[in-house]
Amino acid sequence: MHNDLAEVLFTEEEIAGRVGEMGRAITRDYACTADEGGIVLVSVLRGAAIFMADLARRIELPVEMDYLAVSSYGNGAKSSGVVRILKDLTSEIEGRHVIVAEDILDSGLTLTYLLKNLSSRHPASLEVATLLRKKTPAQAKIDCKYLGFECPDDFIVGYGLDYAERYRNLPCIGILKPEIYQ
Ligand code: XMP
Ligand code: MG
Repeated sequence: MHNDLAEVLFTEEEIAGRVGEMGRAITRDYACTADEGGIVLVSVLRGAAIFMADLARRIELPVEMDYLAVSSYGNGAKSSGVVRILKDLTSEIEGRHVIVAEDILDSGLTLTYLLKNLSSRHPASLEVATLLRKKTPAQAKIDCKYLGFECPDDFIVGYGLDYAERYRNLPCIGILKPEIYQ
C-alpha cells in the first residue's frame, strides 16, 4: 500500500503525538464538564472513525461516542454542500457538550451543514476537532477549535481516509499517486 503513495505527509508517530496533544487540550478545556457527564464525541462515518477512536483514548474525562453517516449529493469527489443524513445520532445531545470529530476539512460544506443541523438540537456547546485541514482557496469559514495538521490540496489517504474504500488501514497519512485515480 505504501508504494501507492507519492509522499508520506505524517507518520504513525507524528499522528499519535498530535492526537495526544489534542486530547490533552480537550481534557483541559472541558475539565469542568466532568460532573455533567463529560463530552459527546460525534464522528462522521466512515473516515473519522479511526481518528475519533484514538482521540477518545487521549481524553481523560467521561466520553460518549456517537456516529453520524451522511451522503453528499452532487457529482463525484467535490462536495456540494447538500447533505443527507443516512444514519442519525443514537444519543440526544440537548444540553450536552458536543465535539464533532472530522477526518479532513476540504470545502467545509459538509461540516457547515452538519453544524447547523446539530446546533438546532440545542447542545450546551458545539465544537469541531478535525485531524486535517486542506489548504484550499475556497473554504467555508469554520471555527475549528482543535486542528491536527494543515495539508496540501491533494488526494490524501490513510488513517481512515480512503480512495474507493482502500487505504483506510494505512497507519500513516500520505498523498495518493495521481496515476492511481486518474
Ligand atoms: P468538504 O469539501 O465538505 O468535504 O469539506 C469533506 C469530506 O470530503 C472527503 N474528502 C476526502 N477524503 N481524501 C479523502 O479520502 C481527501 O483528500 C479528501 N478530501 C475531502 C472526506 O470524507 C471529508 O469528510
Ligand atoms: Mg469524512
